[in-house]
Amino acid sequence: MPSSKITGVGMYVPEDVVTNDDLSKLMDTNDQWIVERTGIKQRRFFKEGVDSVAKMAAKAAQIALDRAGKKAEDVDFIVFATLSSDYNFPGSGVLLQRKLPFRNIGAIDVRGQCSGFVYALSIADQFIKTGMYKTILVVGSEVQSNIFEMSNRGRNMAVIFGDGAGAAVVEATNEPGKGILTTKLHSDGRFAEELYQENPGSRKKDRITAEMFEKGEFLPYMNGKLVFMNALRFFPEVVREALAEFNFKDSDLDLLIPHQANARITAAIQKEMNLPPEKIVSNIERYGNTTAASVPLALCEAWETGRIKDGDLVALAAFGSGFMWASALIRW
Ligand code: ACO
Repeated sequence: MPSSKITGVGMYVPEDVVTNDDLSKLMDTNDQWIVERTGIKQRRFFKEGVDSVAKMAAKAAQIALDRAGKKAEDVDFIVFATLSSDYNFPGSGVLLQRKLPFRNIGAIDVRGQCSGFVYALSIADQFIKTGMYKTILVVGSEVQSNIFEMSNRGRNMAVIFGDGAGAAVVEATNEPGKGILTTKLHSDGRFAEELYQENPGSRKKDRITAEMFEKGEFLPYMNGKLVFMNALRFFPEVVREALAEFNFKDSDLDLLIPHQANARITAAIQKEMNLPPEKIVSNIERYGNTTAASVPLALCEAWETGRIKDGDLVALAAFGSGFMWASALIRW
């Protein structure tokens, strides 16, 4: 049975850098509050007409393809993770399919929010293991700066999130012991309403009303403390679940790439797993939380800066809305 290997990674972030001081001109917030609680100093915001979820994905995908030495024509399937698709339907997979010279390949969207990219990678891994496809493009891309309100009533979430895209080319390999060793996927829907955007949704006869706008009911909601507590539990747990399958210990990891939820969450994972700083990736300071794009952005930067070497044991991990959480263990 073939296994799957990441052979190219790419990323794209919009040009516009938005600092905490920039946000403090739009709402009652300040650099100290944001840095102390989240570790974020700046994020990128998309420019309408220039960037979109699909456009950013295409740019990240082209870089990943070039690095893998592949052409768009070589790709057999697209798995696209996002919570902020250009349209409500169709999904972003097809919007990416038409942007590069892909064949008429299948393209699916994954709605795993912060865990979306790791779920997408797992889906790609299964298609490759069954032998159905040989080369799959996995993408995470988000435009979130327009989901949150840049105002006092939106400030608790608006300061945390950013825009960007990351991509990986996943290919079949017969090299023994190399590539994606395992993936672990979990969810607990009892917590769906603890981090969610209720409106516009299909539960109500009128999807959008003036009252919703007045009351701010279109804004996402997060129970920050509950998210924090559960993240602290599930990040280490899901990584250890993958490690345990191969009798590895925390100390066997060469690099942990967690979803960039919050620098305090990353620091707590590092402490719990007793990892030295060089074994865990944190770039939230520069991009904020980019949801499905955060793991591939961190993966791409880690690869570009030489933090991932051939033969390294690398874990990707994510936790977020759903609640959903997931990990992927990779022998690079
Ligand atoms: N700037 C300044 N003050 C603010 C802001 C802001 N942007 N947002 C809220 N405040 C105020 C609140 O109104 C409140 O004021 P009050 O005491 O007068 O009522 C005060 O700051 C404290 O608010 P809390 O919500 O209690 O802030 P807390 O200290 O819990 O920090 C945070 C909020 C950072 C979200 C925290 O709960 C946390 O770290 N949660 C983890 C969840 C997380 O990081 N999620 C990321 C996305 S989800 C994911 O990726 C999995």
